[in-house]
Amino acid sequence: MCQQMAAAALLWLAVLFTRPMCVACVACFGVARPISSTFFMFQLADPQLGMLHCCGGDAASALNWTQELAMLQLAIGHANRLRPRFVTLHGDMQNWYATDLPGENGALGPESGLGDVGALQVADVKEALAALDPAIPVRVLAGNHDVGDAPTLATLEQFRDRWGPMKYSSREGGTEFVVLDSQVYYDASQPGVREVQLEQTAWLRRTVAATQASNATSIVVLTHIPPFMTSMDEPHGWANWPLAARHEVLGILTKPNLRLTPRLIICGHFHSNSSVSSDSPSSQVKSSFEVVTTASVGTELLWNGRSTFTPTEALPVASTPSGSDAFNDFIARTDGVGAANYSESYLLTRRDARADWSGVRIFEFSERGYRHRWFTNQALSMVQSLDGETLAHEPWKEIC
Ligand SMILES: *[C@@H]1O[C@H](CO)[C@@H](O)[C@H](O)[C@H]1NC(C)=O
Ligand SMILES: *[C@@H]1O[C@H](CO)[C@@H](O)[C@H](O)[C@H]1NC(C)=O
Ligand SMILES: *[C@@H]1O[C@H](CO)[C@@H](O)[C@H](O)[C@H]1NC(C)=O
Ligand SMILES: *[C@@H]1O[C@H](CO)[C@@H](O)[C@H](O)[C@H]1NC(C)=O
Repeated sequence: MCQQMAAAALLWLAVLFTRPMCVACVACFGVARPISSTFFMFQLADPQLGMLHCCGGDAASALNWTQELAMLQLAIGHANRLRPRFVTLHGDMQNWYATDLPGENGALGPESGLGDVGALQVADVKEALAALDPAIPVRVLAGNHDVGDAPTLATLEQFRDRWGPMKYSSREGGTEFVVLDSQVYYDASQPGVREVQLEQTAWLRRTVAATQASNATSIVVLTHIPPFMTSMDEPHGWANWPLAARHEVLGILTKPNLRLTPRLIICGHFHSNSSVSSDSPSSQVKSSFEVVTTASVGTELLWNGRSTFTPTEALPVASTPSGSDAFNDFIARTDGVGAANYSESYLLTRRDARADWSGVRIFEFSERGYRHRWFTNQALSMVQSLDGETLAHEPWKEIC
């Protein structure tokens, strides 16, 4: 909406006198938008090879990630066919925790004799990515499994060796895409990591300032763990950021008098879909950001047996202290009878990697703003091309 106003100042004046002034539109006003900047992005969240059979108790199943790998390969095949401008690989390429010692692997003890299983998982993700047309760039993000829940300087260094930088930003069609490592905000307790966190925050301030001063038309943040599910002040758990970091970082993005007011934060980590935004009628909560939390390209977790979530339903899951508590409370024993009913049948109906569950989120960015939608791999196979029809049923949203 605000782009058309920017393009036609007279119209803007007419609109100004006939409806309440929109702060976001004022922020966008005066920015020249390229006419045909429409492009598509594929978000691939949490391939997490090894998750589905991680804890079966034997080495053969711990090393068997054929099902998740097949889902990732399907999604990459769709990207080759449909040709988005770029792909994000939104963290958790591996299930094996980078902070685990070789030999530790879920329920398997050191006696399993397995080495760095994460390295095998990374190698398979890289091999799958090698099939992606090199003309389609991949932006890779760090997830909690890639660097550990409490990352160390060594695991951060290992990530950079394997995947490249953990914080970077680049321009696409006037939008600055800012990649942040959420893990140094999640837990900076290990020696030296607090400094890495401070450095990232200082870098974010500089990047936002430089982008504001440039001819960019909007800023979008990409990160693994969502900063929040419902609101800035919700309690912290395994799937949102600690409050101090949340307030500090989001405060940098919402400082008063910014020319561009970022609206969109794109995340993964949750293995289910949930989105909070100021304009979603189904939500009781309002946020100045849209935080889009995207399900996995691999193994999904249908918390409480649900396949869709409002933010208020997602919050109790996300604010559980640890991922394994959340798994136990909302996947394995929601009937409240405790571990005694830790039921294989729940695991089968609530956790799986399959073409009619696993998939990607497609975003479209244009001079009209942005819109997005989740597609399972199965649904994607019906999509013939990326064009104005692909997301035609989704509402356009203002990007700044
Ligand atoms: C690996 O797991 C899949 C199910 O995810 C199963 O169909 C396949 O037989 C397993 N392969 C081996 C070698 O165990
Ligand atoms: C924005 O500025 C960059 C150089 O800083 C230039 O390459 C680009 O063409 C400009 N874009 C527009 C839409 O003016
Ligand atoms: C993802 O979201 C779509 C709708 O937005 C929903 O139909 C689907 O069940 C969700 N999948 C998962 C795994 O959360
Ligand atoms: C245990 O879980 C199963 C589903 O797997 C359910 O049918 C059964 O009622 C539960 N048992 C109790 C005692 O709640």
